[in-house]
Parts: sequence; structure tokens; C-alpha cells
Amino acid sequence: MVVTNGGLLTPSKIHELADAGLSSLIISVDAATEEIHEKNRGLPGVCNKIKEANKVLKDIGMYSTASVTMSHLVDYNALPDFLTSLGFESVVFSYPLTKLDSNFLGFSDAGLVTHTNESLWQAYEKVKQLKKKFHVVNPTLSLEEMQRFVQDEEQRYPCLAGYRFFFLDWDLNLWRCHFWHEPMCSIYEFDSSKLVRDGCTKFMINCYRDSSLMQNIAVSMQDAYQSIKKGKLLDTAKALIRKGNVDSLRAVMEELPWIMRF
Ligand SMILES: C[S@@+](CC[C@H](N)C(=O)[O-])C[C@H]1O[C@@H](n2cnc3c(N)ncnc32)[C@H](O)[C@@H]1O
Ligand code: SF4
Repeated sequence: MVVTNGGLLTPSKIHELADAGLSSLIISVDAATEEIHEKNRGLPGVCNKIKEANKVLKDIGMYSTASVTMSHLVDYNALPDFLTSLGFESVVFSYPLTKLDSNFLGFSDAGLVTHTNESLWQAYEKVKQLKKKFHVVNPTLSLEEMQRFVQDEEQRYPCLAGYRFFFLDWDLNLWRCHFWHEPMCSIYEFDSSKLVRDGCTKFMINCYRDSSLMQNIAVSMQDAYQSIKKGKLLDTAKALIRKGNVDSLRAVMEELPWIMRF
């Protein structure tokens, strides 16, 4: 899977990517009109490129999903029609990042993505409502977890960044996520002793938080399996009845059609 703004996509490039084993593309869309999206991206004509790319992708059986950042440019009501006109059938929302402590620069505190807690809560509500009209990949339970986050309420689903998901930078340093202030190690020094699993819920990054919610059930099953192998029946039972297992399964079931495409 590759995330791209689509500016360099051509039919031959898409075929090359498919031949290299890519199964799907995620293409950024910043607004619900061609004019606002292209102006924000600084890429005149990119909407036509995206339309063409989506046609080619469909023809060769590759999938594409729109990636929309939850910014003040987005008109949530107009989004389904615009995304459909570009050839998308699904969308994943990027939770707004205003500050990151790693060397990853995909954040901004310049205003477009800065929200009050109330406006961000409302934005998550709009995304939940959108699910009635268009396929939104972020699980409903994850959106509700983010609503609890902005209201400073207890978080229910531990993040698995550093244990199941990572951020690998261009120097091949491995970080638990791109919010974290220091890398775990160089990729060349990585082994299981470096894994971190502390149930962190410090920040809202959809890549890790949505995926963790869906992975939690698999991790509980793996824990149960490891415990039963060691004859630790109490630990096995604890892993099986862990709070959050049912919700994790519900999130997987909700997104199963999307997950099964890969
Ligand atoms: C790794 S990034 C960018 C990938 C690619 N270079 C592009 O621009 O499409 C993945 C997604 O994060 C989004 N993004 C950019 N700035 C953001 C921010 N401040 N908060 C949340 N998401 C953001 C991008 O729009 C993109 O869809
Ligand atoms: S909750 Fe946020 S800061 Fe904590 S590990 Fe997950 S992505 Fe990183």
C-alpha cells in the first residue's frame, strides 16, 4: 500500500506499481471541491489525474481509498458526491496532527487543522454520520474513542504502536510511532527485546489507533495461546476475557469488507 497525492500517477506508473506487488493506493483529498483541493495542494489538474488513476486501478483490480485530513477545508456533507465523482468508493480520515515530537513533518499548527475540543468532537460526529452515506474506513468505535479523548475521558483501547506498528524513517531508524520523541533503535539493531507494550493512549493518530483497535483481539488470542502453552491457565483466561476484546472484534467485523480486499 502507498499513500500519495496522485500528482505523479500515470497509467504506466500504476502498472509498474502493480507489477511490483502493490495491492492498493491511498490518495489524499483535502476538500470537497476540485478548486479548493487543487489550490490547497498546489497541484492544478490533479483531480483529473486522480479520476484517470481510479479508472485504471479499477480495470486492473487494484483498490484505492481517499485519505481526507479532518481540516477546516472539509465540507463533510458534500464529500460523498465529490469522492464518488473522483472514482472512490471508500475514504479514511486522517485525525488532525498539530504537533509531533519525532522527525516526521506531516503536522501543522498553522490553523487549518487546529480545533477546539468541541469542534473536533463535532467533526468526529460528522464522520460518524457520513458512514450512512459512504464507506468510511475508520471504525465507529475508534471515532468514539477519539471523541472520549478530546473530552479527556478514559481511553478504552490500548495503542499497539511499538509492538505491532512502527514508523521507519529515512535513516532507517525505527520509532514506535511518529508522535514519539525518540527512536526505539536502528532497524539493524531491532529484535523482540526492543518491543514496547505499555498501553499508551497519549495521542490520536488514526494509522495506529484505528489499527490497534482492530488488532487487539488478535493480540489477546496470541497472549492466550502463549499462556496455555506454558500451562498458565489463569493468564489464558485473563487474555480471553480482556476488556476490549469484544469491541475489537466488532471493529474488525465493521471493516471486514475493506480488510478482505488486500
Ligand atoms: C503520510 S501523509 C502524506 C502522503 C503523501 N505525501 C500525500 O501528501 O498524499 C498521509 C496523510 O496525512 C495527511 N496529512 C497531512 N497533514 C496532516 C495533518 N496536519 N494532520 C493530519 N493528517 C495530515 C495527508 O493529507 C495524507 O493524506
Ligand atoms: S497512543 Fe499515540 S503516542 Fe501512544 S504509542 Fe499510540 S500513536 Fe504513539
